[in-house]
Amino acid sequence: MAGELAVVTGAFSYTGRYIAERLLANGVAVRTLTRKTGEGHPLAGRVDVVPYAFGDLDALAEGLRGARVLYNTYWIRFPTATATFEDTVVRTKALYAAARQAGVARIVQVSVTNASEQSPFPYFRAKAAVERELRSAGISHAIVRPTLVAGQEDILLNNVAWLLRRFPMFVIPGDGRYRIQPVLAEDVAEIAVAAGSRSDDLTLDAVGPETYDSRSSFA
Ligand SMILES: NC(=O)c1ccc[n+]([C@@H]2O[C@H](COP(=O)([O-])OP(=O)(O)OC[C@H]3O[C@@H](n4cnc5c(N)ncnc54)[C@H](OP(=O)(O)O)[C@@H]3O)[C@@H](O)[C@H]2O)c1
Repeated sequence: MAGELAVVTGAFSYTGRYIAERLLANGVAVRTLTRKTGEGHPLAGRVDVVPYAFGDLDALAEGLRGARVLYNTYWIRFPTATATFEDTVVRTKALYAAARQAGVARIVQVSVTNASEQSPFPYFRAKAAVERELRSAGISHAIVRPTLVAGQEDILLNNVAWLLRRFPMFVIPGDGRYRIQPVLAEDVAEIAVAAGSRSDDLTLDAVGPETYDSRSSFA
């Protein structure tokens, strides 16, 4: 709602930027939790910047104080020396605890389609674990589950496009019939912000209208 404050994790990164832009366009003030300063970013100066403080619950809660809704995009794409998927679950739980402490009324968690604790993939298992945590956190919430998020800044699609432009061939393992149904980053943001304005607990997929397989996409 216009005039209120929202916290968006990662407003200087990918999906969070689109959510922050959508909120700003709606007249909502935005604070972001991030590792970045925002220097040179189009949203620099338009959002309040607070560093992530996962190890310090009080500091994390201070970063969330005054916000009605937390839009959480915090995640890693793959494990690194400084963060595993188990760490992301622990840090996300800390965010939920801090949100409760700060009096945040609602959390919109960006998850992923097919999050499952039975998944063979650690990314999807960890996502299911944070969804479970949120459902039992005692705070109003929405879980938005996008498919592949397509946008100008996307790393995966841009890397594939770079390879397709520069090399005469592109290797697709198997029969290439891997279906993808991408969703535009703007649409994910619209769905997330609409979910933030509701008060019921819900889980919804954010999925684009077209289904491609690898052969049709890269032909
Ligand atoms: N991208 C997709 O195609 C896609 C598809 C389905 C679901 N999702 C979900 O959408 C959400 C946002 O994804 P995204 O691709 O937009 O992510 P992102 O912008 O790359 O990062 C989101 C947030 O996580 C933080 N972060 C990323 N890697 C980190 C690391 N190694 N250590 C500490 N913090 C780290 C970023 O910090 P900074 O602010 O400092 O950059 C940012 O605040 C995630 O929950 C993801 O699972 C994404």
